[in-house]
Amino acid sequence: MNARIAPDTFALVTGGSSGIGRAIAEQLALQGYHLLLVALPGHELEEAAGSLANTTGCRVYTFETDLCRENADMEVAGWVQSLQVPVSVLVNNAGMGYVGSYTDFDHHFYRDLLRINITNLVGITTLMIRELERNQPAYILNLGSMASFFPLPWKTVYAASKAFVFAYSAALREELRTKGISVTVVCPGAVTTSENVRARIEASGRMGMMTALSPGRVAKKSVEGMLRKRKMVLPGISPKFSWYLGRRLPGIVRKVIVKRLLSGKKPD
Ligand SMILES: NC(=O)c1ccc[n+]([C@@H]2O[C@H](COP(=O)([O-])OP(=O)(O)OC[C@H]3O[C@@H](n4cnc5c(N)ncnc54)[C@H](OP(=O)(O)O)[C@@H]3O)[C@@H](O)[C@H]2O)c1
Repeated sequence: MNARIAPDTFALVTGGSSGIGRAIAEQLALQGYHLLLVALPGHELEEAAGSLANTTGCRVYTFETDLCRENADMEVAGWVQSLQVPVSVLVNNAGMGYVGSYTDFDHHFYRDLLRINITNLVGITTLMIRELERNQPAYILNLGSMASFFPLPWKTVYAASKAFVFAYSAALREELRTKGISVTVVCPGAVTTSENVRARIEASGRMGMMTALSPGRVAKKSVEGMLRKRKMVLPGISPKFSWYLGRRLPGIVRKVIVKRLLSGKKPD
């Protein structure tokens, strides 16, 4: 048995039915974890659960909810508690992205985005901490983005929400150090997941297409980094470049580069 994992424990993965979340769930199952998968109502969740159980032999429980809704965090935590299984990993993966002018989207859209990307992420984490503390070694893996590192017009609210995830993860890591819970944030660039995301990557031009990674590749790096208790995982070239852009380049140079890369997404 892998000494870095608590034996016979479960990993809770939000957005575990497809994309990066499903790929992370698979990597965790291969490491020996059982799975608790949360996603939107629909056939994909059951299909993912059946397939992961068949291919890896792990136990899988599923919960359908919309994480854009208020109180979804409490529903998830209540469901986990009702199962009475030990949980030693929390992966806060579910999230919403977009690209476009700020005024193209209404306040319902931004409120939903903030609920799934921030409010319910913090809520689920808070409600799961005691359970994680009981099942050490424990891990929290949060999905940031290469958009976490500096303000991004045309992805204004998304980038700000991922900057929150980044800062939150780094600070929480320090606080939970003494409780046997390691916190890692992964900040991917473009990852070829849903049709929507693929269309956004294609619209971003050749560079985006060339540097995009598969969910499987990102998941492998993420889980490796998490189990090594890394503070941050930057899978691929784009997030490393973005990190450099955010830390090293003067703001004015960065603004010019970002404008060239993203202003094409702004409708006339
Ligand atoms: N893809 C990228 O290029 C990229 C880059 C950087 C960071 N990220 C971040 O990585 C994470 C995963 O991205 P992804 O592209 O894999 O996502 P995705 O394909 O859009 O969605 C993946 C999962 O999230 C679930 N989900 C979506 N909306 C939900 C909701 N309102 N309530 C509950 N579950 C919901 C989906 O459930 P269903 O299957 O039921 O719909 C699915 O299981 C996000 O936090 C994203 O911001 C992605």
